[in-house]
Amino acid sequence: MKIRPEEITSIIKKQIAGFDAKAEVDEVGEVIQIGDGIARVYGLENVMAMELVQFPGEIYGMTLNLEEDNVGIAVFGDFTKIKEGDIVKRTKRIVEVPVGDALLGRVVNPLGQPLDGKGPIKTDTYAPAEMKAPGVIYRQPVQEPLQTGLMSIDAMIPIGRGQRELIIGDRQTGKTAIAIDTMINQKDSGVICIYVAIGQKGSTVARVVKILEDHGALGHCIIVSSTAEETAPIQYLAPFAGAAMG
Ligand SMILES: Nc1ncnc2c1ncn2[C@@H]1O[C@H](COP(=O)(O)OP(=O)(O)O)[C@@H](O)[C@H]1O
Ligand SMILES: [Mg+2]
Repeated sequence: MKIRPEEITSIIKKQIAGFDAKAEVDEVGEVIQIGDGIARVYGLENVMAMELVQFPGEIYGMTLNLEEDNVGIAVFGDFTKIKEGDIVKRTKRIVEVPVGDALLGRVVNPLGQPLDGKGPIKTDTYAPAEMKAPGVIYRQPVQEPLQTGLMSIDAMIPIGRGQRELIIGDRQTGKTAIAIDTMINQKDSGVICIYVAIGQKGSTVARVVKILEDHGALGHCIIVSSTAEETAPIQYLAPFAGAAMG
């Protein structure tokens, strides 16, 4: 890493200037370095870990490294639009996603922002993207079957509601087909389905949405999409976002 003397002098000068001025605003910081989706920001003294911060131009980021004199922030979105010297604002909110009925039938990114052009998500309820799951003791035991609607699966390997199942196999063997058929078959069962697509092509996700729509099944589904074009921090967030919505 190249050290730029003018950067250091400007920071030292600022520290001297603000030495006895207690009223200095500490809720904004300044980008001192940006690259590879990570911004180093000076001046966010009170920021929390995993807090959502805002860069100019509606670009958001999440604080990851809290170091003594700077914080490392993973940028959600186009980091090339961020420049050294940009102001970063605290939101004082841990990264959270909108939750609730307003999400049904919607396609959103891992931050809960709509991708389907159907307008904003109208909800006041949010849940932190990362939270500790309740321990096994506190969980309700499996009491009800989950019918996939695929007779061979329901007969041979019955699934209980609340259980995890892994569908594994070579490509083009029908894994996605099983998942989508199961989602469509939940139309009258009251089960809400959340489909999290990570690193897939936008066209593939659009095809899934179209199939669900054509079968009248989108209304009980939420699609969380983080396509291959998104940055790594967003993709990392996708499963957490889906779980939080659930
Ligand atoms: N039971 C099935 N019978 C016939 N064709 C199927 C069946 N299940 C899936 N397919 C077809 O196989 C292809 C691959 O399915 P897909 O679910 O996309 O595979 P994967 O997700 O495992 O890569 C699709 O064209 C799909 O329509
Ligand atoms: Mg597939």
